Amino acid sequence: METGIIVAIANHNAIGKDNKLLCHLPGDLKHFKDITTGHTVIMGRNTFLSLPKGALPHRRNIVLSFDDETFEGCETARSVDEALQLCQNDDKVFFIGGASIYHQTYPIVDKLYLTFVHHDFEADTFFPEINFNEWEKTWSETHEATENTPFSFTYENYTRKK
Ligand SMILES: NC(=O)c1ccc[n+]([C@@H]2O[C@H](COP(=O)([O-])OP(=O)(O)OC[C@H]3O[C@@H](n4cnc5c(N)ncnc54)[C@H](OP(=O)(O)O)[C@@H]3O)[C@@H](O)[C@H]2O)c1
Repeated sequence: METGIIVAIANHNAIGKDNKLLCHLPGDLKHFKDITTGHTVIMGRNTFLSLPKGALPHRRNIVLSFDDETFEGCETARSVDEALQLCQNDDKVFFIGGASIYHQTYPIVDKLYLTFVHHDFEADTFFPEINFNEWEKTWSETHEATENTPFSFTYENYTRKK
């Protein structure tokens, strides 16, 4: 099983405000869908509650919560370890947020799928500091702002150095 984090990070490591994403980038949503479809996504309860249509289709959804609550279309786990145990036979597993899940899993994942959004936003949730010495960049692609996408952004994929 390969583990990864996928996240959109604005300037100053900002990733969210009021339990919402900072911006809507149609291209990035497609990118997220292309990377995660057919695989497993693991998310914190707040991120699940922020999804406009609930569980993400064509993916195995696992929600992390310390509560007994159940979430439609999802499995639940009470710890990151328990979630990973459930996925032992899965090919690829993506942690898709939010901040608390990123902080817990940044030290352990194999890959980072980052979208850097080149804009300052007001935010209340942040991605942990990335030490780029520990990561090898495997792919990068910049997209300029357009009519549909008001901010420029750069995809950067990384693999943890051995
Ligand atoms: N920019 C991006 O790519 C991106 C992606 C995803 C989310 N976000 C943003 O991130 C923000 C949400 O982040 P957040 O930190 O507030 O919430 P979160 O990480 O989505 O969820 C936190 C909740 O997850 C549960 N949890 C956390 N660690 C756990 C563990 N080890 N075991 C079991 N349950 C655990 C707890 O739920 P219980 O309280 O039920 O116990 C906790 O309250 C939003 O603004 C969202 O839009 C941004």
